[in-house]
Amino acid sequence: MRNKIVAGNWKMNLDADAAKRLYLDLLNKSIDQSDGKMILIFPPNIYLQDFIERNNGSFEIGAQNFNAKSNGAYTGEVSASQLKSIGCSWVLVGHSERRILFKEDDQVLVNKIKTALKHGLNVIYCCGESLNEREQLQHKSKIQNQLALLKSFSLDEVQFISIAYEPIWAIGTGETASPEQASEMHDFIREELTSLFGLETADNTSILYGGSCSPRNAETLFKCDNIDGGLIGGAALDADSFSSIIEVLS
Ligand code: 13P
Repeated sequence: MRNKIVAGNWKMNLDADAAKRLYLDLLNKSIDQSDGKMILIFPPNIYLQDFIERNNGSFEIGAQNFNAKSNGAYTGEVSASQLKSIGCSWVLVGHSERRILFKEDDQVLVNKIKTALKHGLNVIYCCGESLNEREQLQHKSKIQNQLALLKSFSLDEVQFISIAYEPIWAIGTGETASPEQASEMHDFIREELTSLFGLETADNTSILYGGSCSPRNAETLFKCDNIDGGLIGGAALDADSFSSIIEVLS
């Protein structure tokens, strides 16, 4: 069955005291997870173990980044098996910030997804077009190309992959995709998944929207047929905003 998911990507924000305060505030909110809602938190890696130890079952905790190699001489890196060993259950792969700023190409992303799945981590695979690509009417072909790398995975593996559609022009800009724009892209992603993996798998895959999602626009976006929740950046850094977004997902 398709999960309804709200995920908070904290990116490289918040020093230790502020991060702990936000996490404790969220824990205290007794967030309602009925109706099969899943709430995921992706803090900076240095906070993962502490957050996992403090978790009261309200959240699943994921890592924003890790290295595709299993182990070895990779100074400064963290592996999927290390994440799994501390109780992490999710990872983000393919975020536009990693693709663009850290030059992660398709091969790196395939390798990252492979090791994540091998170690029993669930994956949110992010895709999204730039403003220029949208203006050139290449937004669908861009997403189609980004989804194509999922062909490297079997049906058994794909069941552990969720998709996040994050138009780059909407990330951190305050400019959200309109419900029509988001709906069109989420419908398209579902169609692409259907042609890649068949109707049943496509139907069971959660597709999240990300890009300036806030308490102001979340309810309208989440009402769209193929939007199964959100991947939230800025608005996840405030306990009230994040929990309001969770509340409107039904
Ligand atoms: P914002 O919600 O800040 O636009 O960030 C979205 C995002 O990149 C989540 O991964």
